Amino acid sequence: MASALPLGEPAPLDGLLPPTAVISAHERSFGVYVHVPFCRVRCGYCDFNTYTASELRGARQVDYSDHAIAEIRMSRRALETSGLPDRPAETVFFGGGTPTLLPADDLVRMLGAVRDEFGLAAGAEVTTEANPDSVGPDDLARLADGGFTRVSFGMQSAVPHVLAALDRTHDPERIPLVVRWARDAGLAVSLDLIYGTPGESLADWRRSLESAIAEQPDHLSAYALIVEDGTKLARRIRRGELAEPSDDLEADMYELADELLAAAGYEWYEVSNWATDAAHRSRHNLGYWRGDDWWGVGPGAHSHVGGVRWWNAKHPAAYAERMNAGLSPAVGREVLDGPSRETERVLLLARIREGIDIGSLHDGGRREVAGLIADDLVDAKAALTGVLTLTRRGRLLADAVVRRLLED
Ligand SMILES: C[S@@+](CC[C@H](N)C(=O)[O-])C[C@H]1O[C@@H](n2cnc3c(N)ncnc32)[C@H](O)[C@@H]1O
Ligand code: SF4
Repeated sequence: MASALPLGEPAPLDGLLPPTAVISAHERSFGVYVHVPFCRVRCGYCDFNTYTASELRGARQVDYSDHAIAEIRMSRRALETSGLPDRPAETVFFGGGTPTLLPADDLVRMLGAVRDEFGLAAGAEVTTEANPDSVGPDDLARLADGGFTRVSFGMQSAVPHVLAALDRTHDPERIPLVVRWARDAGLAVSLDLIYGTPGESLADWRRSLESAIAEQPDHLSAYALIVEDGTKLARRIRRGELAEPSDDLEADMYELADELLAAAGYEWYEVSNWATDAAHRSRHNLGYWRGDDWWGVGPGAHSHVGGVRWWNAKHPAAYAERMNAGLSPAVGREVLDGPSRETERVLLLARIREGIDIGSLHDGGRREVAGLIADDLVDAKAALTGVLTLTRRGRLLADAVVRRLLED
């Protein structure tokens, strides 16, 4: 089962926001995330809010786009009535789950609703995630025609025994094919990789990186495998069927990724993300890290507008029920106070290359900077220009750096 939603106060049934959310809204960009909570099978490591056909408890995949469109229309009214200025969507991101399990026409219709309600900014970035198993050339061409600009494929590994340990069903031979179809359709391409899978050697990881690089994607994400409680992977490790991932090996794997990617012309711009150039960074994800505003549509989706966070009913059946009743699907929310917003700002900005203005840190954080440079965790040259950016070692130990920056 997917992990639990956070606690918080109840969210209002009309979806309206408090007046604090409006302050400085014109300085923040606006994006839309659409969660598509369906997968054909669940991968053993994944605890995302996603459901296979037998877990849907009566919710129907065919009804989903209508419900999501109803939420998009509701979101526009709620923002307007709350006093937020009109802002076109700079980015739209369809994630999951497996958005490409829905017909491409459904994805295009949902994007059309975002365009009707908010407008799309000139040059807007419109991404869908896709499982290599569930996408064909016609789907990708239809998405590109309908306004999508980018596709992110869950490649994970090029090595069959690693894919098997992850319970992935796709054939690694399919990756060159789906990448070519996406390119032919005119879409920018991103590939997701996972490292630290039980049984994966440094040589296996090198093979995955080299295969991914050979496809010349515009963007690459490499995530350290998280063993999430309650997953099949966690159970198999507990029973001793699979080895626990080793921290030292994962550190070596991160270093190898950064070395090979840099040599192939990819620049890191977030701890787990690399792109060929600034134009191919994920603007949608940068919006999250910079604390911009976004509306998250769909079951369990999270939203953030001006320091107010809220989250929707988690199960597709509960979500469908709220939408059918014409109610906001939000079930909980949190209005962040000044100190919590500052903690979040440091936590998120520290992870990205553009970093944090050192002068904006509180006294305790500023005092730590010299020590962090001495420990080779923070880039000395950037610090001279007043910006705190992590070194490679700092990126490996990002959580520890953030803890030091937040110390009093
Ligand atoms: C929603 S999935 C991508 C699209 C599609 N569902 C797929 O898997 O091909 C988002 C990405 O999250 C990453 N991910 C999911 N669970 C993870 C875990 N436990 N540890 C590390 N990365 C994970 C995977 O790289 C995956 O590609
Ligand atoms: S296909 Fe993607 S979202 Fe679905 S279970 Fe696998 S990793 Fe998770």
